[in-house]
Amino acid sequence: MSDQAPNESLFDDVVNLAKRRGFVFPSAEIYGGFRSTYDYGPLGVLMLRNVKNAWWRSMVQLRDDVVGLDAAILSPPAIWAASGHLETFTDPMVDCRNCKERLRADQIGDTCPNCGSSDLTEARDFQLMFKTHAGPIENEGSVAYLRPETAQGMFTNFMNVATTTRKKPPFGIAQVGKSFRNEITPGNFVFRTREFEQMEMEYFVPPAEAPKWFDYWVEQRYGWYREYGIPEELIKLRPHDEDELSHYSAGTTDIEFLFPWGWGELEGVANRTDYDLKAHAAASGERLEFFDQAANERYVPYVIEPAAGATRAMMAFLLAAYDTDEIGGEKRDVLRLDWRLAPNQVAVLPLSKKEELEPTAREVLGLLQPHFQCDYDVTQSIGKRYRRQDEVGTPWCVTVDFDTLEDRAVTVRDRDTTEQVRVPIESLVAEIISRTAKA
Ligand code: GAP
Repeated sequence: MSDQAPNESLFDDVVNLAKRRGFVFPSAEIYGGFRSTYDYGPLGVLMLRNVKNAWWRSMVQLRDDVVGLDAAILSPPAIWAASGHLETFTDPMVDCRNCKERLRADQIGDTCPNCGSSDLTEARDFQLMFKTHAGPIENEGSVAYLRPETAQGMFTNFMNVATTTRKKPPFGIAQVGKSFRNEITPGNFVFRTREFEQMEMEYFVPPAEAPKWFDYWVEQRYGWYREYGIPEELIKLRPHDEDELSHYSAGTTDIEFLFPWGWGELEGVANRTDYDLKAHAAASGERLEFFDQAANERYVPYVIEPAAGATRAMMAFLLAAYDTDEIGGEKRDVLRLDWRLAPNQVAVLPLSKKEELEPTAREVLGLLQPHFQCDYDVTQSIGKRYRRQDEVGTPWCVTVDFDTLEDRAVTVRDRDTTEQVRVPIESLVAEIISRTAKA
């Protein structure tokens, strides 16, 4: 595993590409942007959805022991009091008296990184949850929080899910959705933002089996990133030291990625023990237990939690995929994304704008669309259009030319090898499906 930071301009190259090609835009840009929030553009929304679908496929679709959930984002203080977030979900904050910058005390030395002054206030705790009011009256009784993690929805619904699905431990509840944290220092593009998407799964197990399942999930989740294209030298496991464990955790291992500024967390796998179910049972007065009929005993399951960020994972996949090479003496930017994560899998490109090509090109597009997300592009020279597709990671381009009108065949071009082969329209879908199997 390498400890070298990759090419320093990589971060700028990928952020520029993301903006220029419609992956990620600064939010409210026409008003000067808004506090490190981002909007996902036409290509970004496709890729982010692919990342979430890839996670869902591996965590829910391909298993029979994990079910899904989509819980509310607005939530009552009772949840966050019981979970411990009201008391402990804080970051230590200091103010620089000289330049007025607000800083995270645990991320700086003795001086302000903005102006160099050492005139800093004492550190104080800053609550990271966003507070709002539900309903027309703004008083203590109407306080609501935007969830800072999706996890609590799985704990509060534990009995609902266990009863309706008749699942027995070991079983899991998975959820993908937005979470909100009033981060003191958001930054590094979408690495740390105040509004972001998580992909979390709570896996309920008999307490004695927790260590076994913890190891299992660390391995599974590491394997998922590798399967979708993160190379071995850019990913590593880092077990937490005792003093950095979250308030609920008996053990956590982070899956880290080598970002351009150094190693950073992609996902945390935690042994949350029975902390959350017991806390919610005590606070709500409801029994949150499993009754093991065979052994005729009740117990509170332990929970193993793989908790990933969808937006952060998308950034890592973009960074890992970005490459430059030379084709025919010309420099090329290419995103070598796994075909399942690429925004578009196929681009249909009529060789020229001439009207006679359009009906056949649209026929080809119509054949491909039920199977693949497709782009259709008629502007500029064919060479430039290939480069534009390479730059956004489209694995296959299909060109319709004047010969197509005679022989009913098209040219399929591969992003990585740039190899081109002639394929009959009738077998085009089968050809691309066979390439996905090999990719
Ligand atoms: N339920 C446990 C939990 O939320 P976490 O380590 O705080 O654990 C899990 O968050 C993942 O969510 C992180 O590994 C990261 O990928 C993502 N994440 C957390 N805070 C984020 C932020 N401010 N911006 C983007 N992603 C974030």
